[in-house]
Order: sequence, then C-alpha cells, then structure tokens
Amino acid sequence: MSKLDIRPAEEADLPLITEIYEHAVRHGTATFELVPPDLAEMTQRYRALMDGGFPYFAATVEGRVIGYAYAAAYRARPAYRFTVENSIYLQPSIHRRGIGLQLLQRLIVECEARGFRQMIAVIGDSANAGSIGVHTRTGFTLIGTHPNVGLKFGRWLDIVTMQRSLGDGAITVPAEQI
Ligand SMILES: CC(C)(COP(=O)(O)OP(=O)(O)OC[C@H]1O[C@@H](n2cnc3c(N)ncnc32)[C@H](O)[C@@H]1OP(=O)(O)O)[C@@H](O)C(=O)NCCC(=O)NCCS
Repeated sequence: MSKLDIRPAEEADLPLITEIYEHAVRHGTATFELVPPDLAEMTQRYRALMDGGFPYFAATVEGRVIGYAYAAAYRARPAYRFTVENSIYLQPSIHRRGIGLQLLQRLIVECEARGFRQMIAVIGDSANAGSIGVHTRTGFTLIGTHPNVGLKFGRWLDIVTMQRSLGDGAITVPAEQI
C-alpha cells in the first residue's frame, strides 16, 4: 500500500469521513445508529469534539481519507471528565492491514498527552472480531457483555465493553481535584 499518514482530522476531511461512517451505519453492527448522519450533523459532532478538547485523527493514503478515529466524553456528568470513549472506522476495503491498530495507538498516545486516564470501548456486536481484536492488541481488557441490548437488521445485538488505563491510570490523582 502507498504511504499511510495519520494526522489530526480537519473539517475538509468530513465528507469522506461521513461516507465511511454511512457505510458502517447502513451495513454494519459496530454502530447502533440506524440512519446515517449527514455532513452537517457530522460537522456539528466534529466541532463539539474540538470544543471539548478531544482528539480526532484521519488516516490518509495519497491524501485520501480511508479511516478515522476519535475520543469523546464517555459520559457527560463531570466526574467522568478523565474518561473517554473511543471510535474507529475504516473504509471496508482496507480492513486487516494494520491501519486500525496504528490509528488506535495514535489516539491512545494523544489521549495520554492530554491527561485522560481511562479509555472505554463500547463495541457493537459481540461478533465484531475486528474491533475486539484491535482493542485486545492495544492493551484493552474485557469488562463484560450486555447481551441483546440492540436491535438492528432484525437481530438482537450485544454490547461488549473493553477498557484500558491511560498514562498513570488510577495510580495517581490529577492535581486538579474536586
Ligand atoms: C475494527 C477496525 C477498526 C479494525 O481495524 P483493522 O485495520 O481492520 O485492524 P488491524 O489490521 O489494525 O488489526 C490489528 C490487530 O487486531 C486484531 N484483529 C483485527 N481484525 C481482526 C479480526 N477480524 N479477527 C480477529 N482479530 C482481528 C489482530 O490481532 C490484528 O493484528 P494481526 O493482523 O497482526 O493479527 C476495522 O476493522 C473497522 O473499521 N471495522 C468496522 C467498524 C468497527 O467495527 N469499528 C470499531 C467500533 S468500536
């Protein structure tokens, strides 16, 4: 494959990111969204992440976006502020070539640099071997499975939760405390 570049995502990347996610919504069970968000909605989501201080990366080959990953607040209540939830999506034709691994590794490093302490993966579908595999490879451990909490394509779907410490994890408490 031509040279892969992983860099911070820009608004100009969002049309291709929207296409990649649209495919995942329409054909996959990793996301429990049923209707693909349009470019305006994806732009709003991107801006909210930027405003919140979260990292968002694009993977490109020859300047074309082929995948993306970002971290977002795990939950909105403020005591969760050191915990992020990650998302990664690749164009289907380039799965299993190590790109998801590189994107996730980059996201982890950036989240550590920004001071986050825990990363949680909420994986749609316990049959999602690719997602479970790439999270296992990057040091996530299995927390548990919520069976049959989603319904998509006429099938009940599980949620698999995996988690990884970032940086000092729970060994220290950040200076900023409430
Ligand atoms: C999940 C996803 C991001 C993984 O990215 P990828 O580039 O396909 O995965 P990689 O090639 O980087 O795999 C890295 C490692 O993860 C594991 N892995 C990846 N795919 C796997 C699979 N289908 N089965 C088992 N293990 C797998 C392997 O350990 C692999 O290393 P190896 O190839 O040296 O054995 C990608 O498949 C994808 O976009 N899937 C659809 C959307 C999705 O599920 N996103 C996750 C939402 S939580």
